[in-house]
Amino acid sequence: MAPSALPFLADGPVPHALSSTEIGSLVASFVRAGERALAAGFRAIEIHAAHGYLLHEFLSPLSNERDDAYGGSFANRTRFLREVVSAVRTVWPERLPLFVRISASDWVEGGWTIDDSVALARDLGPLGVDLVDCSSGGIVPDLRIPIAPGYQVPFAAKVRAEGGIATGAVGMITEPEQAEGILRDGEADLIIIARQLLRDPYWPLHAALALGVDVHWPDQYRRAKPEPASSGRLS
Ligand SMILES: Cc1cc2nc3c(=O)[nH]c(=O)nc-3n(C[C@H](O)[C@H](O)[C@H](O)COP(=O)(O)O)c2cc1C
Repeated sequence: MAPSALPFLADGPVPHALSSTEIGSLVASFVRAGERALAAGFRAIEIHAAHGYLLHEFLSPLSNERDDAYGGSFANRTRFLREVVSAVRTVWPERLPLFVRISASDWVEGGWTIDDSVALARDLGPLGVDLVDCSSGGIVPDLRIPIAPGYQVPFAAKVRAEGGIATGAVGMITEPEQAEGILRDGEADLIIIARQLLRDPYWPLHAALALGVDVHWPDQYRRAKPEPASSGRLS
């Protein structure tokens, strides 16, 4: 399923272009997913509108060639996401955070841009989104992206500065000082880490130690928590 019958790869399968009725039933499916997340006890949810997934495909002019209310203008291409967000917010309590992950840039001429992301962020805040998680890419294969530590942080910084909403920074953030610096410099409100947590599942505890911050250690781990050098306690 996709906004338009355009294959991702030239010789890949051609997706079914969704009808507006099918889009409506997908909005209802997102609502049911929100209800299940709440019933399961989740304390935060993130609607995924990045990385070439369905909602991103509607946003990007590269994958959305519709000529109905869900394609063409910026307002039309963002309609599906705005409908999903509004509908999910009705079942997701005000006290719990609702994030949206976007690809802040398609990194392709004629694609979704960082300025589009700022405009989208301005629309999402009033709909009840608490934070925009700024990733990038995924709408076309074989991208040439200047990947380096923190390479997507400027997206989070611009959306935060101009979009009037809190942002999350993600992508090659691996060092405690690096993460803390992004927060301290006001480039993002939240640091999102993937691969470094696979390499070191205790990264938050190690980062707290490196930054000299006392955080709660799980009870089962407490005897392993480094004590101040002078205490000499073993238990
Ligand atoms: C094993 C693995 C699975 C991932 N799955 C998802 C996913 O389901 N949804 C998503 O938005 N990103 C996914 N990502 C991307 C990460 O969320 C993150 O954006 C990316 O890895 C860059 O951050 P990092 O440099 O901290 O790993 C995945 C990454 C890895 C390594």
